[in-house]
Amino acid sequence: MSAHRFSTHRFVPQGPLTGRIRVPGDKSISHRALMFASLAIGETLIDGLLEGEDVHATARAMQQMGARIEKDEAGRWRVHGVGVGGLLEPAVPLEMGNSGTSTRLLMGLLASHGFQASFTGDASLSARPMARVIAPLSQMGASFTARGGDRLPILMEGAHPAVPITYRLPVASAQVKSAVLLAALNTPGITTVIEPVPTRDHTERMLSAFGVDVTIGEDNTEDGDGARTIAIHGPCDMTPCTLTVPGDPSSAAFFAVAALLVPGSDLVIENVGLNPTRDGIFRVLRAMGGSIEELECREVGGEPVADLRVRHSALKGVEVDSAIAPSMIDEFPVLFVAAALAEGRTVTSGLEELRVKESDRLATMAAALSAVGAGVEERADGLVIEGSAGRPLAGGGPVATRLDHRIAMSMAVAGLASTDGVAIDDAAPIATSFPGFLKLLARAAQ
Ligand code: S3P
Repeated sequence: MSAHRFSTHRFVPQGPLTGRIRVPGDKSISHRALMFASLAIGETLIDGLLEGEDVHATARAMQQMGARIEKDEAGRWRVHGVGVGGLLEPAVPLEMGNSGTSTRLLMGLLASHGFQASFTGDASLSARPMARVIAPLSQMGASFTARGGDRLPILMEGAHPAVPITYRLPVASAQVKSAVLLAALNTPGITTVIEPVPTRDHTERMLSAFGVDVTIGEDNTEDGDGARTIAIHGPCDMTPCTLTVPGDPSSAAFFAVAALLVPGSDLVIENVGLNPTRDGIFRVLRAMGGSIEELECREVGGEPVADLRVRHSALKGVEVDSAIAPSMIDEFPVLFVAAALAEGRTVTSGLEELRVKESDRLATMAAALSAVGAGVEERADGLVIEGSAGRPLAGGGPVATRLDHRIAMSMAVAGLASTDGVAIDDAAPIATSFPGFLKLLARAAQ
């Protein structure tokens, strides 16, 4: 792991956001595309892959285990997979950087291989809990040695054959769901995940595209409550395919909020993925009075997609129903910025999960927004924000972003809606999910 270089940056008020922009490919879908393509025998073609550091961590790991991954002259990624069960034991530790998704999904995928693998990461990732995947994967037969019991670095001893399980998710987490489903691919028998609260379903959708029979049902057993069940009968064969990755709604959200907040803005964000397990932010922003229109609704790579036309709007504070949280789990930092400029109070609750993301996003956003003049109260499970009714925030900083790309981009948006600008201590982590963010912002807000 190389030493992290801090790169401070100041975001100052700019003109309205106008014209048409495109955000990079979806991060969740890009990770899965590389992993699944590496398991199919033959060549998979991927268009629109996110070329962020997190996705590079996944690509590097798959190459270290035998997959061939190259970019062609047309900018598409060509992946030659090795077949389910065909991955090679990695000769060196898998360096996961800042990426929780790479780590948790790969821990699952490798748990049903009869070899050892070790995982390392940066300071942010090394502070995040891994017990949530260690628990089900241990039931399947894998064993783990982890710093402090559940933190990176982790050494894993996979199991082959692994044992199929039925696992009810104790936390609403697509990463945990996916870890178990990926372990199932190389496990003989039926592995079932029971999901009481729906989370992003890219794994299920994309496995089907690679020819895996994924059985979706309802838990109607005696203790069942109609929860969603996802079952895979392994070992599976995977067939290569051609994939197009839609634009990332989590990245689009920064531009949507920026356009809502900056007077005179009228911006079209093209090609935004609007999977119903991901689009909660746009529903909440509309409930706050935001003008966000969906144009040209279509399907791309098995996912619903539209162009979003976003116009400056006077926002009102709302009470956010915690049931919507899984469909906008990464968008709360930027929602807090919108709330800081809205008229009246916004109340969020049920957000304990935000404390174990790339940073503790409740504490980090409460500190950052307070430092630039917003009225914020931090509670154990959410923030309560007293909005300024459209009056720009005072500004200031540098605020601490704690190796968290989404804090950095959220505070960039706050800078546009401030009098003196907002400085952040470190813009470098933005490259994990959104290389080109600074340039695109400068272009949209001329
Ligand atoms: C992701 C799932 C979410 C999200 C993360 C990406 C995924 O995490 O926060 O950025 O690709 O599955 P959890 O499922 O742990 O909530």
